[in-house]
Amino acid sequence: MTDKSQQDRVLIFDTTLRDGEQSPGATMSHDEKLEIAEMLDDMGVDIIEAGFPIASEGDFKAVSDIAKRSKNARICGLARANYADIDRCWEAVKHAKLNRIHTFIGTSPLHRAIPNLTMDEMADKIHETVSHARNLCENVQWSPMDATRTEWDYLCRVIEIAIKAGATTINIPDTVGYTAPEESATLIRRLIEAVPGADEVVFATHCHNDLGMATANALAAVAGGARQIECTINGLGERAGNTALEEVVMAMKTRNDIMPWRTGIDTTKIMAISRRVATVSGFNVQFNKAIVGKNAFAHESGIHQDGMLKNRENFEIMRPEDIGLSGTSLPLGKHSGRAALRDKLEHLGFEVGDNQLKDIFVRFKELADRKKEVFDDDIIALMRVGEDAENDHLQLVSMKVVCGTGGPAEATVEMEIDGKDVTATANGDGPVDAAFKAIRELHPNKAHLQLYQVHAVTEGTDAQATVSVRLEEEGIIATGQSANTDTVVASAKAYINALNRLLVRRTKSAPGTDRKEILYTDPAE
Ligand code: KIV
Ligand code: ZN
Repeated sequence: MTDKSQQDRVLIFDTTLRDGEQSPGATMSHDEKLEIAEMLDDMGVDIIEAGFPIASEGDFKAVSDIAKRSKNARICGLARANYADIDRCWEAVKHAKLNRIHTFIGTSPLHRAIPNLTMDEMADKIHETVSHARNLCENVQWSPMDATRTEWDYLCRVIEIAIKAGATTINIPDTVGYTAPEESATLIRRLIEAVPGADEVVFATHCHNDLGMATANALAAVAGGARQIECTINGLGERAGNTALEEVVMAMKTRNDIMPWRTGIDTTKIMAISRRVATVSGFNVQFNKAIVGKNAFAHESGIHQDGMLKNRENFEIMRPEDIGLSGTSLPLGKHSGRAALRDKLEHLGFEVGDNQLKDIFVRFKELADRKKEVFDDDIIALMRVGEDAENDHLQLVSMKVVCGTGGPAEATVEMEIDGKDVTATANGDGPVDAAFKAIRELHPNKAHLQLYQVHAVTEGTDAQATVSVRLEEEGIIATGQSANTDTVVASAKAYINALNRLLVRRTKSAPGTDRKEILYTDPAE
């Protein structure tokens, strides 16, 4: 790199659709993946890791369709260190104007033991597979998985081999979130100094958040010379997640005095994509999450509110507008029209087409009939949960619940299953249990309930409840969501939504093609 402006530029590599989606339960549908990819492209992400093409037909199709529709972003796919993975990856990403093959192998002693390769055998494999990838694609990223627990000499040796074989980006993953900021900076700095050819490639950082240091470690790596940060929206990812895109981008923007690097991200698009990813992944953003949490810009205590009124800089280091939030606005009511709703949606960072607006307006009116004032959070909840798709196999038609102090609750549920109207009544330990049992009677399944979460959207006894239900069946996980002023109705709808997603997942993934399952298995030729 030569001129200063290039030296300051940090590439943003988003892996929400690959490492993020790998998070148990965070499965997205094909259309949702295309939508998120488009939002990432529009916000200025440099590289989108769209999936792991060999993992399943669904992954392959998602990566190739994203590649075909890409605008400015480079589209990347993941591949293990074998020809079949790399070829499949190329087949998917080749449609993009700008593409990349990302191939990796675990290089730490623990990860070397998985394919049972000696150090020399692994070094040969790296040379062969990176060369193969480079013959297909001019842009190749190579990652020594678990780099931060790999012996220093061996790490330098394999990186040199990958560069000689044609890798254009060397990514240094902290796969288990083990490193700390100073060590992260030093590792990158020393690698760039020690490895021949290092100045010809871009060094990337890929941090996991197991010790809560992913953002700090990624920024420290940039201080050490990395010029690509791998991250996800909302920090979505396995276990404690990955580096959060919004955190590193806003940190560099807000403290540019001490972190003098720039990205190509339009930060005003952060809030909209954060909400969309939360919706489609089923992973709610914690209230006090930096940048995108509901409370990140809320000032409740009297002393803070007083200080804010005098000068907002007393308590705000960023402007809400910078991430696409504008000041609070008036609630809507049942007399509000379509134009007011569109205006509100735009204000909240949602872009909707005419058809979508029509659908939301109907649901908004239903809500406004039940609730006097419809607040911003109610609208966000409406947008979050969506409506049952017309082509869903299972649909709730109606339900009635009797419950109270005198005995078991009883729920009667009417559903449409593949076009057929069916009804069942069941007793349970409370109304939600009874409703779930009636649904199970109508659609027998072995799905195990992993999570049932209720959250009141606003204050007051007429508040909407958003309910998340996560189900697991034979290793396949799906999350469903719904919102309603009636908690039991929201629960039943969320359960049915999860069952529909489970059905879709089951038909799409053949046994043994689970992404996580194959990620850590022997990369066979
Ligand atoms: O965390 C990790 O090591 C990964 C690799 C596949 C890059 O996600
Ligand atoms: Zn990772």
